Amino acid sequence: MGLPTHTPDTRLVLGIESSCDETAVALVRGDGTIVAQAIASQEAEHAPYGGVVPEIAARAHAERLAPMLERVMGEAGVGLDGVDAIAATAGPGLIGGVMVGLVSAKALAMASDKPLLAINHLEGHALSPRLADRSLAFPYLLLLVSGGHCQILSVEGVGRYRRLATTIDDALGEAFDKTAKLLRLGYPGGPQVERLALEGNPQAVPLPRPLKGSREPHFSFAGLKSAVLRALESGQHTPADIAASFQQAAVECLIDRLEHALEAAGPFPALVVAGGVAANKAVRTALEAFAKAHAMRFSAPPLMLCTDNAAMIAWAGCERMALEGADFTGDPLDIAARPRWPLDPAAEAVRGAGYKA
Ligand code: KG4
Ligand code: ZN
Repeated sequence: MGLPTHTPDTRLVLGIESSCDETAVALVRGDGTIVAQAIASQEAEHAPYGGVVPEIAARAHAERLAPMLERVMGEAGVGLDGVDAIAATAGPGLIGGVMVGLVSAKALAMASDKPLLAINHLEGHALSPRLADRSLAFPYLLLLVSGGHCQILSVEGVGRYRRLATTIDDALGEAFDKTAKLLRLGYPGGPQVERLALEGNPQAVPLPRPLKGSREPHFSFAGLKSAVLRALESGQHTPADIAASFQQAAVECLIDRLEHALEAAGPFPALVVAGGVAANKAVRTALEAFAKAHAMRFSAPPLMLCTDNAAMIAWAGCERMALEGADFTGDPLDIAARPRWPLDPAAEAVRGAGYKA
């Protein structure tokens, strides 16, 4: 089943991403060539606060986007006349930042008389594996795990997504970041927790596996974070043992929830992981083993495409243009930015899911 994979297509899409703490611009062709791209992280600006501060993010996007657009277009040696469409993240995300990117895309589209594509950021993540791996066909099971998202999706075609699970509280990357903060490891916490975990015993600290075995399909990580705090306050465990035990508990939760999703909606020929947490080796190793045990192909885009970037936004635009063919007109210029925008409109709202829904 599934739609045909993209046909060779040389149309060029300009993509803009500004929904969280990365400002990014990319030029991508319909055949999957990334012609040029740039990403500026705001890590340094947000680090003193231990998380992303929306006002700081919006201002940083506004300052960086125009020079970045100029640089990427300059590097590629193309002007707006050489671009076939302009794609920008229109949500979900931090609304101030999303508006900066979307308004810029609208201005460029208006000035150049080129179609605008208002892209759902989650659709960018959902389709990015096909930009990285051109032989990846629909359908596939996607685990999207980052600081802002924690979902399992059935990706059935362009514009056809079924959400099988989301988080009822924190995203997994957020749980890694909060654990790092408790252990005083700095921000972003994921890589630091992973590093410290290498020195610890993953079985040393008894931590809960929230929702493990539950018939409810979702994720929950808030209780795990509170248990980390209690373990720390008990004074009985080393930070390395806590980090290792936290990571082990998180991995077990992921695998359990994937088992559940597969039982409910499987089988799938492929398992794909995206989002910043995909950088974690313990997570990757467990996912690879899970895929193997279920006779699924395993695919993880390179990290640069896993974390927030504009190539995936431009690519989602390419996929939409290819799908709509001669009917393609783009989105109206008065389309609104959406802080919340579930990929699967039929999925029920989940308490606490925030923009991760
Ligand atoms: O996809 P991303 O760059 O941005 C969004 O949140 O959308 O993901 C960043 C998240 C952060 O929470 C970070 O701590 C987590 O991914 N992360 C990791 C690792 N590298 C990044 N989590 C666990 N282990 C890692 N090695
Ligand atoms: Zn993202």
